[in-house]
Parts: sequence; C-alpha cells; structure tokens
Amino acid sequence: MPLVIAIDGPAASGKGTLARKLADHYGLPHLDTGLLYRAVAFALVEAGIDLGDHAAATRAAETLDSASLSDPRLRDRAMGEAASRVSSVPEVRAALLAWQRRFASDPSGAVLDGRDIGTVVCPAADVKLFITASALERARRRHRELAGRGEAATLEGILADIEARDARDSSRSAAPLKMADDAVQLDTTELDAAAAFAQARAIIERAR
Ligand code: C5P
Repeated sequence: MPLVIAIDGPAASGKGTLARKLADHYGLPHLDTGLLYRAVAFALVEAGIDLGDHAAATRAAETLDSASLSDPRLRDRAMGEAASRVSSVPEVRAALLAWQRRFASDPSGAVLDGRDIGTVVCPAADVKLFITASALERARRRHRELAGRGEAATLEGILADIEARDARDSSRSAAPLKMADDAVQLDTTELDAAAAFAQARAIIERAR
C-alpha cells in the first residue's frame, strides 16, 4: 500500500530535516516543495525580471525543469523571501500543483513538505503532520544553518525575515499556511531532530 506523508509548517520549523529522515526510513521519494517556489523566483532573478511580474512568474512555473531544483543557490536567504512573493500568485500555485500531485502519485507513496500539502496538494494523505516551533527558535536554527554555509546574517535580521514570511504565508488568499483539520501538530521548539523524528514515527505508526 502506498504511504503518502504530508508535512507542513512555517519557515525553519524543522519540517525539511524531518521529511528527509522519514523518507529515508520508509524508503519513499521526498519532495521539498519550497524548492519549486524558490526555483521560480530564481529564474526571474537570474533573467533580471521583476518579482512582481505575475505573467513571467507563471511562465517560469509552467516550464520548471526538475534539474534546476538541485542548484544550491536556491537555498540562499534572499531566495526564501523571493519565493514567498511569487508563491502568492494563484497561477504560479496552479502550475506547480500538477507537478506536486504527479510526484505524490508514485506507486510506493511519497513524503512532501511545504505549506499547503495537507490542505491542497494531498488532501487524502495517509498522515498529515503540522510542524511548529517558536519564531525565536526557528531564527536560531536558520542562523546556524546560514553560518554553516558561510552566509553572514544577524539573528535579529533573520527573526524579522521569519516573522515577515510567516505573516505573508499565513495571510495570502491562495492556499495560505494553515493546519489541516485532520493534521497532527508537533511542536519542535524543545526537540532536537532525533526526538522530532521519534515522535513523528510514533504518530505515523498510529495512523497507518
Ligand atoms: O520552505 P521554504 O522556506 O523553502 O519555502 C519558501 C517559500 O515558498 C515559503 O515562504 C512559501 O511562501 C512558499 N511555499 C509555498 N507553498 C509550499 C512551499 C513553499 O507557498 N508548499
């Protein structure tokens, strides 16, 4: 039986690390859906096109090439912001929806993480997790991650970014960040990656 695991949550909540560990554990393909939005934004920035150009963003989403998803520059801090801007365009979301649904229909199942997986992309997922953590803890994690990649930024600056992104992602009208009614919430503020993984596995084993 295919197993589809939907993981949603705000920026730097630990959902990406958790999704990778679960995909490894269950032997499932994994899609970090934030990368799709980042790749659309990156295509515009590279071409010198304004992020407010919705028609260009839609074309970039419609012609997205999976090979572009492995570019490490997609993970730069500025791309998170830029992705959040293009992700509020309904036509961009519609173009990426088909892509994500195809990925989720793998015969073995899949793990997808993002903002609207449990609510829009995979409403019939076998298990839905909603991962949260305090904004300060998320800023600390992102700060460590960026420092590890040699990208300098202050904790205050990152916290401000995270709060702005939370507000934009939660208030947009197209598929806002929102916990699905049938999702299980996991607060990782006090949990390290191993503890979050153990709790998520227990939730999945109960649900399947
Ligand atoms: O998760 P990540 O930080 O890579 O996502 C970048 C941005 O892409 C988010 O702030 C959000 O605006 C958008 N996104 C989205 N829906 C998803 C995944 C990401 O709108 N499923």
